[in-house]
Amino acid sequence: MSDLPLPTGTDLAERLAELTVPYDAIAAALSVADRLDTDRREFLRAAASRVRDGMGAGLEDFDLPLPPAGTEFGRLGYLICYAALLPSIRDLHRRFGVPDRIGRATLADLGRQAYVFGKRYGTPGFDKQNWLTLHFTGRLYQLGRLQFERFSAGADVAASAGAAGLSVQQGDPVLFVHIPRFLGGLTPAACDASIRAARDFFAAHFPDERHPIAVCASWLLDPQLTGYLDERSNIVAFQRRFTLAGPPRVDDVSALEFTFDEPDRPLDELPRTSRLERAIADVLAAGGHWHSATGWFRWQHPGS
Ligand SMILES: CC(C)(COP(=O)(O)OP(=O)(O)OC[C@H]1O[C@@H](n2cnc3c(N)ncnc32)[C@H](O)[C@@H]1OP(=O)(O)O)[C@@H](O)C(=O)NCCC(=O)NCCS
Repeated sequence: MSDLPLPTGTDLAERLAELTVPYDAIAAALSVADRLDTDRREFLRAAASRVRDGMGAGLEDFDLPLPPAGTEFGRLGYLICYAALLPSIRDLHRRFGVPDRIGRATLADLGRQAYVFGKRYGTPGFDKQNWLTLHFTGRLYQLGRLQFERFSAGADVAASAGAAGLSVQQGDPVLFVHIPRFLGGLTPAACDASIRAARDFFAAHFPDERHPIAVCASWLLDPQLTGYLDERSNIVAFQRRFTLAGPPRVDDVSALEFTFDEPDRPLDELPRTSRLERAIADVLAAGGHWHSATGWFRWQHPGS
């Protein structure tokens, strides 16, 4: 494989803007890109090559090397890496026939994650390099309110769906559902529309993959939430779509991270303006826990 050129200057700025990266992070990344030494250049090229080699390939998870902590390069380097990959992933989308609008919405998760980093730590950066490998290898697509990831069934969901009479083996293709932030409420109507769009999308662009079920693994599926939220809550309605596979696992971090962007703030100082905020903070303050759970629902193929 030929080396991937690392963009700099206006080229880098335009690519990061296309990926909806906030302007303060673009400015900081430009300054890092201008000062890359040979080792750092090689670090980014090697990471970018690994992701590019995975484009359109298998469904293995990536574990990209961590950049040096506590440095500007550590905080911003992977933005340059993903900017370098933009033309390649756009080519892959074209090869798969993915409409431009869907490709752009999907890749804009890079900017969303960079925004969350800035909000959380008060300085420009990005630390979700492994998560973005899904988008940049053609495994994940945003279709309206939800994101859908081509993946394979784990033993727990295969057993649970099997017990419900579906033919699902461990390793069979399934679609993992993810819930991005900043796209409005998780309303049943928005989710229905997104699921309908995904049914058509995967049937059209990945006709050889038959997905018997959709799967979600999230803190939003913690059954304990129903005791604290209004019965008209969107999260509660979302939960009702899923059959849980296996018991929920203790996971305080996800509930805290996705509800508050203040990882170091003491529990008694967290805002309690919504039912969700009050529930998450009060349960933890009382010594309780939140959980992540895995659930599935049957995937209807168009025409079936
Ligand atoms: C998923 C999400 C869009 C749901 O929001 P929603 O549609 O408003 O959900 P609900 O209708 O169930 O909200 C119930 C209550 O919690 C509040 N709430 C929901 N999400 C909240 C959040 N992230 N932070 C603070 N309060 C929140 C609502 O304002 C509402 O408050 P009220 O009952 O006092 O009026 C939202 O929680 C979110 O953006 N989460 C981050 C993304 C995420 O967690 N993804 C999954 C990763 S595994």
